[in-house]
Order: sequence, then C-alpha cells, then structure tokens
Amino acid sequence: MDNFTFYSPTWFQFGKDAEALTGACVKKFGGKKALLHYGGGSVVRSGLLDRVKKSLDAEGISYVELGGAKPNPLSGKVYEGIELARKEKVDFVIGIGGGSAIDSSKAIAFGALYDGDFWDFYDGTQGQVQESLPIGVVLTLAATGSEASTDAVITNENGMYKRCADGDVLRPKFAIMNPELTCTLPPYQTASGAFDMLSHCMERYFSHTPEVEFTDRLLEACMLTILKEGKRAMLEPDNYDARANLMWCGTISHNNVTGVGRAQDWGTHHMENELSTHYGCSHGAGLAILTPSWMKYAMKTQGTERFVMFATRIFGCQMDYEHPEATALEGIERLQVFIKDVLKLPTTISEIGGKMEDVPELARSMFHGAPNHGNFVKLTPEIAEEIYRAAM
Ligand code: NZQ
Ligand code: ZN
Repeated sequence: MDNFTFYSPTWFQFGKDAEALTGACVKKFGGKKALLHYGGGSVVRSGLLDRVKKSLDAEGISYVELGGAKPNPLSGKVYEGIELARKEKVDFVIGIGGGSAIDSSKAIAFGALYDGDFWDFYDGTQGQVQESLPIGVVLTLAATGSEASTDAVITNENGMYKRCADGDVLRPKFAIMNPELTCTLPPYQTASGAFDMLSHCMERYFSHTPEVEFTDRLLEACMLTILKEGKRAMLEPDNYDARANLMWCGTISHNNVTGVGRAQDWGTHHMENELSTHYGCSHGAGLAILTPSWMKYAMKTQGTERFVMFATRIFGCQMDYEHPEATALEGIERLQVFIKDVLKLPTTISEIGGKMEDVPELARSMFHGAPNHGNFVKLTPEIAEEIYRAAM
C-alpha cells in the first residue's frame, strides 16, 4: 500500500426531511448570507427550494438565488455566479441538485475569491484550488459523489473542453442527503447515477498497486451494493431503502476512502468527458458505453488477474483455471447485461448519435492541453481512438 494523506471534513445530514436542517448547517459553519445555486428547475417544481429557503429564514440567514446550471455545467453560468457572489458579498455557496449544480457552485465558490480567471485551475495554469468560500450541498441525485469530493467538473464554452479542478477546500462543509428527494428522478438519471458510482469504484479497483486488500474489499462492497440497490431502485423507484443505500454508496464510492494508498486510473472518465460534451448524453451513460471496451483493451494489454477478480467476486462467475481469460470475459459480458437489461442504458456511441468519422476529433479534444490520461492503462491518442472505435 502506498503512503497517503486523507482529509474528509464534510458534515453529513442524512435521512427523511434532512433539508429542514439546511439553515442550521449554514449557521453551524458561520454563514450569514448564502448564494443558492440550482439547475433547470427540478428543485423548484418539487418544492425543495422553498423548503430550503424556509429553513434559512428560520435561522436568520439571508440569501440570493441563481438557477440555470445545465447538466454537464458550463463556464458561462460560473462567471455569472462569481459576479453575483461578489456583488452580493455572500459568505456561503449552496448547491441544490445533482453533480452539475454542485460543481457549478464549487467553481463559483472558489472563483469568487480568485483575482484571475477561475479557468486557470482547469487548464493547468494553477495547481490545486487552495481557497474557496465555504460550500454546502442539498443533494437530489445519487451519482457523482460531488457532495463529498474534492472535484468540480466544468465545460469551457470556448472550445467545449470539459475539465476538472480539485482541492481539499472543494469538499463541501456539509451535505444534506434525503434519499426521498431522489424518488422523482427519471429512470435514465437513476441508471446513469448508478453506473457513475460503479465506475468510480472501477477506476480505483483496476490498479497495479499490490497489497491493497482492505480498499479492494471496500470497493467490492460498494460495487455489490450498486448492483443490488441499483436494480431495486430501477424496479421500485419509490423504495426508500434502495434509494438510501444507493445514496450513501455514491458518497463512499467517491470521497476517496476507497481509493487511498493505491494508484487510480480515470482514463475511462476522461474519455467519457468527450461523449457528454459532443453528444449531450449523461455522464453515467457515457461511462456505461465506454467501460466494457476499456476493460477488453486493458485485459489484453495489462493481464487478466484483476478482471478475473472482478468477474468472480462481483458477478459470481465460476473460475476457469485453464482459461482465466474466459472467466475475465464472462465478467465483462455480465456487466454488459447489467447495463442493457437492468439499467437500460445505451451500449454504443452510435446509439447516442456518434459516427466512426468523429473518433479522431474525440481523441484530439481529449488530449488538447491535457497530455496524461489513465494509469492502469496509460492512454495515448491512438489507444483512445482504438477504444472509441470498439465502443462505436
Ligand atoms: O437541472 P435540473 O432541473 O435540476 O434537472 C436535473 C438534470 O436535468 C435532473 N434532476 C436532478 N435531480 C433530480 C432531477 N430530476 C428529477 N428529480 C430529481 N431529484 O437530472 C438531470 C441531471 O442532473 P446532473 O446534475 O447533471 O446529474 P449528475 O448528478 O449525474 O451530474 C453530472 C455532472 O457531474 C460531473 C459530470 O461530469 C457531470 O458534469 N461529475 C462530477 C464529479 C465530482 N464533482 O466529483 C465526479 C463525476 O465523475 C463526474 O465527472
Ligand atoms: Zn463519474
């Protein structure tokens, strides 16, 4: 196991009606005036925004509002939010919604304190984010883990480059997590969220670091939970326990408690950024399309050992000692069945509107100003093209 540092200070308020405690959480962390940032309106329609405001009123916390964060959030809304946060002198930013509203809130929160262009933290000009207004989250979609992660993923409209900034200060001070709020999700978003969290586990599971038994087992627990509760949430959208298990699992799958002390890959995530940007699919759907092709390439070039582990421990495949690659492949096939039959997500790039002739542009855009992708498999533009083609 490698040496590591781990700092994860988020306060979690989990369970039914948790949003009623938003005001108390802001107060606990010293906030007096908040910017409430949300997406396209689901939080208005569900009445959640009103309930959050009521809890802020009850604690005497003032606020301003900014809606309109798009799925796969855009830089333009971040600039607008930074201006508003400065003008209104807010001392807290609260993201209400899924990963997109949360990440847009994070970028606003650190951008408001930075003299230069917030994009400097995305294009490699600056390192990790060191300073930010405090961030709070009211989560409505179990998926990205942004409610406890160090990351903020934004797409720059100037060239449509989707990139990630990170830093410990981007871990929210608090996360309000009421699983009931996720019962209104369309099946496509429930499924995308489940696959995103599965991928957060897989990006960590496929590692060359030896002797990481404990985090292997934590990752396996998360993956088994996602298979079981993801299926249950698809069949019974109002099942509180399925939603609750999935929601907490999404957090633990990406706050990095499962990833410390081991090399992580992230190549599939970086390839996916191009699919959601070019074709407007959900992040989780893009991952579902690419992951089996990445796995087949990886087992061909990096050996079957980890893929056999995945097949036997996650999908219960019988070990074929004479032909371990057959066992590994069976695991990938069962994953494909889960994607198609249980989650009902797309399985090819063509299904979301891509064409074979797009492949060079996908790889170019991915490597634009970002030369390093992947660790278990170190991606080159040629390898990325091969995987995109296999997923077409
Ligand atoms: O915009 P509104 O109207 O709120 O509707 C949203 C949106 O259309 C809707 N929705 C959310 N909660 C709902 C709901 N509809 C009904 N009922 C609810 N309870 O769902 C749609 C998708 O929302 P979005 O926030 O885009 O989804 P998700 O949570 O999957 O976030 C995806 C973004 O997060 C990034 C992705 O790249 C993508 O940009 N990621 C962020 C990470 C992080 N910060 O740590 C890590 C991830 O790997 C990922 O890259
Ligand atoms: Zn993800």
